[in-house]
Order: sequence, then C-alpha cells, then structure tokens
Amino acid sequence: MSPDLEVELAGLRLRNPTILASGILGSFYGLMKRVEDAGAGAITTKTVTREPREGYPNPVFVDLGFGYLNAMGLPNPGIREFSVELRRAAREIRIPLIASIGGRNEEEFMDVAGRALDAGCSGIELNLSCPHVSGYGLEIGSDLQLACSIIKAVKSISSKPVFTKISIHQARPDIVSRYLGSGADGVTAINTIRAAAICVESMTPILSNIIGGLSGPCIRPIAVAAIYEIRRELPGVPIIGVGGVDGWRAALELILAGANAVGVGSAIARKDLQIFGEIIEGLRRFLAERGFKSIKELVGYAHRS
Ligand SMILES: Cc1cc2nc3c(=O)[nH]c(=O)nc-3n(C[C@H](O)[C@H](O)[C@H](O)COP(=O)(O)O)c2cc1C
Repeated sequence: MSPDLEVELAGLRLRNPTILASGILGSFYGLMKRVEDAGAGAITTKTVTREPREGYPNPVFVDLGFGYLNAMGLPNPGIREFSVELRRAAREIRIPLIASIGGRNEEEFMDVAGRALDAGCSGIELNLSCPHVSGYGLEIGSDLQLACSIIKAVKSISSKPVFTKISIHQARPDIVSRYLGSGADGVTAINTIRAAAICVESMTPILSNIIGGLSGPCIRPIAVAAIYEIRRELPGVPIIGVGGVDGWRAALELILAGANAVGVGSAIARKDLQIFGEIIEGLRRFLAERGFKSIKELVGYAHRS
C-alpha cells in the first residue's frame, strides 16, 4: 500500500502536507485552481487588506542567486473585491483555503477577517510579520500586546482555525505560547527576513523600497531552527513550516524539525507549479523506502536523536 501523506492541521484535513505560501499566485481563482490541480494540499491567499493597495513600483523582486529579495508592498485589490475571488474559490476548490489577512489595527483585522470568513475560507492566517510595509506586518507584530489583542479579536468571530504568521523575531516559544494563549490555533513560521541589496554598478539600492524580505534556500536553516525550537517547547502546536522549500528534501527537513505541513513560496518562480508533484512523489518514495506508513510519523522525528 502506498504511504499515507494526509495530515491534520488544527482541524483542517490536507491530502498531503504541501501548501501554497502566501503571496505567490494566491490572488485569483484561476491561479488557485491551477495550484489545486498541481497537487497542493492547501492554499494560502496573498495577504489582503481592508483597502486596495497598489504596492511599490518596480523593481520589487530580485534573484540574488543564493536567494530572493522582494518588496512588493502588499499589492492587493482590498477585501471587498477579493471576496468575489475568494467566494468562487471556496465554492469550486476542494482543498482548504487559508485567507492571509493584514491590517494596521484590530478594527481592520476584524473587518477583513469577517469578510474572508463570510466568503467561505477554511482558515485565517494573520500576517504579523511582513518586514517591509510601514504600518503593517512586522510593525504590528513587534508589539506583543497588540498582536495578542488582534488574535483574540479575530478568534472571537472565527470558528475556523486562525494561524499567526511569524518572523524570526517572533519565533520564540515564549512568544508563540502567548499567541496560543490568546486563541491562535497554530503558527506559520517563517516570513521573509528584512534585507537589502545594492547594485555595485549603479551604486544604488536595487529595490525601489530599498528594504525588502529575503526568501529561498538561504533562509531554510533559519526556518529549521525556528520550527525545531517551537516544536521542542510546544509539542502539540500545529506548525506550518515555510522557508526555502525547493524540493522534497527541503520539505522533509522542515517536517523532521516539527512542521505538520510546509509552505512553498519563491521556489515556484524557478520550478513553477510542478514543484508540488515533485515534493509529493519524493516524500512518498522516501516513506516507502524507509518503511514508514504515514508522513505523520515523521513530524518532529529529528527530536528523537
Ligand atoms: C514575492 C513574494 C511575495 C510574498 N508575499 C507575502 C504576503 O503577501 N504575505 C505573507 O504573509 N508572506 C508573503 N511572502 C512570504 C512567503 O509567504 C514566505 O513566508 C517566504 O517567502 C519564505 O518562503 P520561501 O523561501 O519558500 O519563499 C511573500 C514572498 C515572496 C517571495
């Protein structure tokens, strides 16, 4: 019998542990459908805010060779318009749809969450960690009290699971346990890491916003450490591991560290959506070769040694 890849994540049932990470293709129904057809276990939408946001002018994305740097500026059509896409996706897509939401205060988070839930999303991810947009993300998440009151407020209107997306700065068991105490059902670790690059030819910063977020394989060891430490101190917490997953080995590494499921982000720029199939097949083969029946047996397996 083929090994079982199904995982359970704070009440969500995923056919396999791969998830589309927020910000990559999760803006339109048609693209989300392609992600489902490519085999993903779940989808996280692009972060949506109350008002529409244009995002920053180009350049917003650069391939550094050893990783990627981006400062998109959270471009999105705003929750009213996005609800139309989300409603259609929720009706037609069979895998769980996690709505990533952003805001500048509790009221905005409540408003966006309420509309996303109304549109039929399966769960919410609170973006408390985007490192390059003034007034949003990490600026909100750095205030622990504010972050906890946002979690509490959103949870008070949601019967669906609420995940808190964290940066390396919040990836500490004591902070995560405060989030859980405020009602969060799980964490997504990690977002991109605040970073910048300068072109030596022009002698100017490359990104229009100067500061961006670093992603890709170069941040994977940082994600692994964050996931490992959270799993060690908080054995029962549902974790979506994100950071540098570019194939089945990398996905497995995050799972062995303690992730129940893994987000795939910038690798899609290089490998397109076939990466989901590649990860799924690789994990299945590994489980079969090593005599494991289920991927669940490997969650946090590295803690045994
Ligand atoms: C182009 C781009 C856009 C992103 N947009 C968002 C976003 O809107 N919300 C969010 O929470 N994370 C966003 N992220 C962060 C990713 O979801 C992920 O946490 C990070 O890139 C690390 O994973 P990776 O190494 O697989 O890319 C974005 C990343 C990239 C590269």
